[in-house]
Amino acid sequence: MNILVTGNLPAAVLSLLQQEHTVEFHAENRPMERSRLMEMVGDKEGLLCMITDRIDDDLLRHAPRLQAIANMAVGYDNIDVEAASRKGIPVSNTPGVLTDATADLAFALILAVARRLVEGDHMTREGGFRFWAPMYFLGHEVSRKTLGIIGLGRIGKAVARRARGFDMKVFYHTRTKLSPEQEKELGATYCDMDILLSRADFVSLHVPLTPDTHHLVGARELAMMRTSAYLINTSRGPVVDEKALLAALEKGTIAGAGLDVYEQEPDLTPGFKNLDNVVLLPHIGSATVETRTRMALKAVENLLAGLRGDRPPDCLNWENVHAGAAGKA
Ligand code: DGY
Repeated sequence: MNILVTGNLPAAVLSLLQQEHTVEFHAENRPMERSRLMEMVGDKEGLLCMITDRIDDDLLRHAPRLQAIANMAVGYDNIDVEAASRKGIPVSNTPGVLTDATADLAFALILAVARRLVEGDHMTREGGFRFWAPMYFLGHEVSRKTLGIIGLGRIGKAVARRARGFDMKVFYHTRTKLSPEQEKELGATYCDMDILLSRADFVSLHVPLTPDTHHLVGARELAMMRTSAYLINTSRGPVVDEKALLAALEKGTIAGAGLDVYEQEPDLTPGFKNLDNVVLLPHIGSATVETRTRMALKAVENLLAGLRGDRPPDCLNWENVHAGAAGKA
């Protein structure tokens, strides 16, 4: 079968596809142009795509032979899964393998923004470090503070576990409350989102992007946060209303933010780059050699299963694919 891979995977992982199929891949270290993707997907049975590819109804119309789509990411807001289901195409993602890398990065942002690491690095490089003084370059402590986690899936839980090492008090808000035993084991207490926002010293977002979570944190929510609190976003940019966040950072409604994702990625809302109280990263939550290799492997396994007609291990729409097919028959 013919497969299109829209990113450059490690050679050893790519060869697993090449052993069984004819593979065309995008070898550059940047996203594939939409027009090129449209052109190349036309004769393919398999598609291994990235979060930077928009897989919508229009693209699917250009891909009449497609039999399986594997997204190399846990988030899949770039794919119209319903449209794929209507066409009988299984779609998969890569859960589990990027949990620790993303949770580590959320914690790195917490520490970076509270202890002013990036600001300090810039100043030191520029020759600004001239003396030690008792009240010089003070940040805020992370240990024993209160962490509010919004979205307690795998990554949110991994962040909660890291917080224990800092003796933090952890509150969480999520759709499905944990059992008392699970809460005890994790050391986290459920609370209403507004209460969480008003209590936390750090608010860390770990929800998927859906119509319900679009602008989940906007002007109202930011106004509920403490003026000493920090917002951390390693989920998806549009979960936060960036204009409202910029205004809150400029006015000092909150103390700072650590961002790995943006509303109009890769574009920044003008204004962020002039602020010292925000740490800005280029969507690198899962960007370690180990994690990206595991993600690539998982995407390959999912795609190979889908092309064999088997249920991909991380299939998002298997029941709907089959319901669609039954409807058509
Ligand atoms: C994901 O997997 O959804 C990440 O955002 C990409 O690293």
